Amino acid sequence: MRLRDCFNFHDFRELARRRVPGPIFNYIDGGADDEVTLRRNTTGFEQCDLVPSILRGVETVDISVSVMGQKLAMPFYCSPTALQRLFHHQGERAVAAAAAKFGTMFGVSSLGTVSMEELRKKYETPQVYQFYFHKDRGLNRDMLQRAKQAGVDVMMLTVDSITGGNRERDLRTGFAIPFKLTPGGMLQFAIGRYFTEMLDPSMKWDDVAEMVRAWNGQFCLKGIMSVSDAKRAAEIGCTGIILSNHGGRQLDGSRAAFDQLAEIVDAVGDRIDVMMDGGIQRGSHVLKALSLGAKAVGVGRFYLFALAAAGQAGVERALGLMKAEIERDMKLMGCSTIKQLTRSNLRFR
Ligand code: FNR
Repeated sequence: MRLRDCFNFHDFRELARRRVPGPIFNYIDGGADDEVTLRRNTTGFEQCDLVPSILRGVETVDISVSVMGQKLAMPFYCSPTALQRLFHHQGERAVAAAAAKFGTMFGVSSLGTVSMEELRKKYETPQVYQFYFHKDRGLNRDMLQRAKQAGVDVMMLTVDSITGGNRERDLRTGFAIPFKLTPGGMLQFAIGRYFTEMLDPSMKWDDVAEMVRAWNGQFCLKGIMSVSDAKRAAEIGCTGIILSNHGGRQLDGSRAAFDQLAEIVDAVGDRIDVMMDGGIQRGSHVLKALSLGAKAVGVGRFYLFALAAAGQAGVERALGLMKAEIERDMKLMGCSTIKQLTRSNLRFR
């Protein structure tokens, strides 16, 4: 199996499975507890059908969107993910280069393995910095300042990881009693300690409001799920929210973002940019989320498996395939701009 044999998410996943060590594959692939939320993230899209319109003149389609002050050539972006150089030596550089090539946004994780400054200098495309709130307030202030100075376009505070999720696959691959010195074991050890020792579980709305003021720019919260939290985010001056359950890696049994999307868009969609991530594997998934009112969607594993399988060439192929799917599906839907996608072209079963 080669990169040219990959045509969809499942193919990239399979190629990654063959090419990276088992513990690393399972770190990317896995979710929390019984992985119910992880599965629902994708199957949720199957409970909803697209209703196409015909004969509307779709020789050209424009799939660009504006979100959080950024113009994206496509309605999906690369969500921030940790430790990308562990999956492929090109790591974040490959993802940033591919995102820039396709004119979309990419996120750099707090647990990134290439500096945000280097990425900002080399790749001209909207860049997000994903923030985890640390116990050390001085460190938080310094990191915010660093991101500002680097020229990061969007600050994204992840709020669904107040403690680490229970990822049993990682425990199994990494922690054969007492502690196995394998890549998986070290990974689990490093990340487990990061969440329990460095992150601040006492973080509250006032802390975030202070961050929003200090940043004084595009600021979004990743991991919002309830209407009241979405309203609160708007009240404290956030410019965006991302409905997300962290790819099913945190609270298992929690709701899928797609299932919760309409409720949130109805409540705050006129005040704040609503995005979502989780489970997106197809262009049709993107169209369904946009039809419900998302301004853009994030993908995680969709580009991560491609990265693990084949570095920058892999990520470029994955983004290119997704873009082509979106354009093709737009035409088949009879839509030439993203604005034409509305709830009237959706039916839930
Ligand atoms: C993530 N995600 C994540 N999110 C975040 O805010 N900071 C991080 O460091 C990471 N790290 C990370 C590592 C890996 C291996 C995965 C799979 C995910 C979550 C990510 O940004 C996004 O929310 C989900 O990946 C979306 O779900 P899908 O597209 O993977 O189904």
